[in-house]
Amino acid sequence: MQIQNIPTQSLSRDQGAIELERLAKEIAYHDYLYYTLAEPTISDEAYDALRLRNQEIEKLFPDLRRIDSPSHRVGSPPAPEFEKVKHRRPMLSLDNAFSEKDVYDFVARIRRFLKLLENQKIPFVAEPKIDGLSASLHYQKGQFVLGATRGDGQEGENITANLKTIRDVPLLLQGESCPENLEIRGEVYMSRSDFKILNQKRTANGEQAFANPRNAAAGSLRQLDPTITSQRPLKFFAYTYDALSGSRDQTHMEILNSLKSWGFSVNPEIELCEDEASLLIFYNRLQNLRPSLDYEIDGIVYKVNDLKLQQRLGSIGRSPRHSLAHKFAAEQAETILADIGIQVGRTGVLTPVAILEPVLVGGVMVSRASLHNEDEIKRKDIRIGDTVIIQRAGDVIPQVVGPVLSKRPEQSHPFVFPNQCPVCNGPVEQESGLVAKRCMGGFNCQAQAIERLRYFVSRDAFDIEGLGEKHLENFYNDGLIRNPVDIFTLFERDKQSLDPLRTKEGWGSLSARNLFEAIEKRRKISLDRFIYALGIPQVGQVTARLLAKHYKTIDAFLLATSEDLLSIEGIGLNMAGDIINFIQAPEQIELISNLKKRLSIEPYFEEISRKSLLTGKTIVFTGTLTSLSRGEAKAQAERMGAKVGGSVSSKTDYLIAGSDAGGKLKLAKELGIKILDENQWLEIVHEESDTA
Ligand code: IVH
Repeated sequence: MQIQNIPTQSLSRDQGAIELERLAKEIAYHDYLYYTLAEPTISDEAYDALRLRNQEIEKLFPDLRRIDSPSHRVGSPPAPEFEKVKHRRPMLSLDNAFSEKDVYDFVARIRRFLKLLENQKIPFVAEPKIDGLSASLHYQKGQFVLGATRGDGQEGENITANLKTIRDVPLLLQGESCPENLEIRGEVYMSRSDFKILNQKRTANGEQAFANPRNAAAGSLRQLDPTITSQRPLKFFAYTYDALSGSRDQTHMEILNSLKSWGFSVNPEIELCEDEASLLIFYNRLQNLRPSLDYEIDGIVYKVNDLKLQQRLGSIGRSPRHSLAHKFAAEQAETILADIGIQVGRTGVLTPVAILEPVLVGGVMVSRASLHNEDEIKRKDIRIGDTVIIQRAGDVIPQVVGPVLSKRPEQSHPFVFPNQCPVCNGPVEQESGLVAKRCMGGFNCQAQAIERLRYFVSRDAFDIEGLGEKHLENFYNDGLIRNPVDIFTLFERDKQSLDPLRTKEGWGSLSARNLFEAIEKRRKISLDRFIYALGIPQVGQVTARLLAKHYKTIDAFLLATSEDLLSIEGIGLNMAGDIINFIQAPEQIELISNLKKRLSIEPYFEEISRKSLLTGKTIVFTGTLTSLSRGEAKAQAERMGAKVGGSVSSKTDYLIAGSDAGGKLKLAKELGIKILDENQWLEIVHEESDTA
């Protein structure tokens, strides 16, 4: 008798193993036909019988459960928290375009960077931009081994078990030709029809409905319990891969075909476009098609098709130069402006907020919108009681476009912006040249203190779990946590307290202990996170990383001068001013020194694993380069770990001189600096990229 006909109870261990392998393959094949191609070939009953047989054999021989077992699709035990995963290559984001001109500029920029002629064609691939969440999936020898969220682009969260529940994520790749180590990137999303059904069920069960498919997908993917994820109808479109060994594809189109051949779902609305005009034709066609698609898209992504060109173009900041997201126009609606509220932010800035009569804009209920600042209200003459136009574009916070003057009530008057902080009643200042008014209360203003604390413990900063906004508010009001240092002395004080945390409302022994442990775990912190957590105006994650990289230690950073800040590419005059003001303010000096006593702030370590001839060297370019643009040469140097300077000094290591070099060349010769011509430069670049 064939093994597949033997009743499960009679199977030997060896037969069980053979059967589990067959079932995994067969079920995966039917999943693929059903979920990816939408062309099932067997009945639901026959399919369920296969699943049941797999389940029974696994019950008999639990240790034989395969890594590609279909039982992963229904989830595994919940995890206490998500592990962090460092991405092998950063997960970048895309530059946005909002107009046709932006698209033409993008193509022109690429031509200039690559030194191509005006009329030289650059083929692009145009794809819908799926409004979901990006994920990275690692396959080893064809097996799905690790999946992560994007996180901050450098580091995400391990959501492998959750991704395994998504039926069009293959657990084992099809075909023979996949590279041994493969990282797939794509978008997890929820279809509109599935979203509707899910929300109907939730409302019927008295649960809160999700605002839109993207939120539903996000909420489902970030579940610590994968069995919950498995009950949510998530889907996955793959859009690229990064092969760490042996990829033969030369174009993005070939990548998409490989993805399909391995069993991934690839969006069907993708086209090769030969010029700018056809990009825009595609954009308009998809914009018309948008309402009839069963998934949400928020624009079109254009990608240079030739992978060699993509590589040459590299990236700037967080975005690759070879791709662009062309967003669809925002969706608008009219409603009444019921009131204008004033929010006090982390840095004390007073921000007016429109309080609206709730209105549906592009499928989302909106009751608040940003009004930016006092000037904006004056400029647009927005008054309480006005009928206003609200606009929402993708992820962006809804905005007030302006009033509908024909509908203005008779007795309206212009809005008067407060001259006092509405929270602490303290004085408000307006820095010269700036539009924003700021409350100067610092940690003495409750709104500011709580915002700063919230930022300090947030995921990208100290990442302290269990200290949500409500808790922080209560701690603040009880006087237990008034500034970040208090977080790290909380446990010591609690031990001596007459009414310790575990006795307080909403707390128990376990939750109090968990909080203290979560705080304890974060006493060690990397320098970039620490700098970010300080909440220096304008200093986000990218700048915090630049600063950590430049200064290496906290003490060196605290001695920063404007001059050396300005030598860091990416930091301008305005930002340098904010940084200096911050690190020299007595209140901050005291805070940082108190934090230092209680924390171990780790010096920054270079991540460059392979040292190159140019790592850490300072290079200056001068003259005209003939075969590549200055921008591309600069990007090459930075890829090899070099710093690119603007002027020659004794600190310069190499001067790369093109034709017509003048003063810089002369000075470099006088200073005895090594000088390379364009060919010598290209030789180094090619040697380096061959050994990479
Ligand atoms: S390519 C550099 N293609 O849009 C990132 N992204 O900011 C390259 N997205 O985080 C991404 N559909 O989550 C690409 N067809 C598509 C996409 C797409 C949606 C998302 C992705 C990324 C964001 C870009």
